[in-house]
Amino acid sequence: MLNDVKQVLITEEQLLEKVKELGEKITNDYKDSDNFIVIGVLKGAVVFMSDLIRSIELPLKIDFMAVSSYGTSTESSGVVRILKDLDESVEGKDVLIVEDIVDSGLTLSYMHKILKSRKPASLKICTLLDKPNRRKVDLKIDYLGFEIPDDFVVGYGLDYAGKYRNLRDICVLKPEIYKG
Ligand code: XMP
Ligand code: MG
Repeated sequence: MLNDVKQVLITEEQLLEKVKELGEKITNDYKDSDNFIVIGVLKGAVVFMSDLIRSIELPLKIDFMAVSSYGTSTESSGVVRILKDLDESVEGKDVLIVEDIVDSGLTLSYMHKILKSRKPASLKICTLLDKPNRRKVDLKIDYLGFEIPDDFVVGYGLDYAGKYRNLRDICVLKPEIYKG
């Protein structure tokens, strides 16, 4: 697995330090909420989310949503379909969406629209990574880990063709891996 890595972009230590920082901010911002729910976007956000929620020192619930965007494995098309919806209603709740990476922004802007229509008390977005150069739609990111260049990355939950999610660092793969 490590043989396929060209470069480590963000180390495990940098990730954990950033997660702690985000957790402190979120703890402070939501301290008055009595109905806080953190929603992870499957599957990429799972690793980030499991670290993040343990750095938030508040009562909270978690839920998950899975969406698929039609397109190739490295480009999203903007047409998004819900594969797994939330288990419970978000009406009246303070909702924080947790995502691994924002690229074009199409996936999250669609999810934001859907969740907004369900009348949460508040709705914010937290993403570990952002590729601002690739943005196609306007999207407000409330909590951001790192801006990264326009390279396809894997690890810490992010995959290529379903693999590499269990790498501890955020890595760039060797180009020959994509060519198969
Ligand atoms: P959009 O374009 O809708 O895409 O903002 C967000 C989704 O695209 C995937 N994505 C990546 N996945 N490494 C990945 O493993 C990447 O570099 C990457 N760039 C985009 C990801 O699924 C994200 O949810
Ligand atoms: Mg994803």
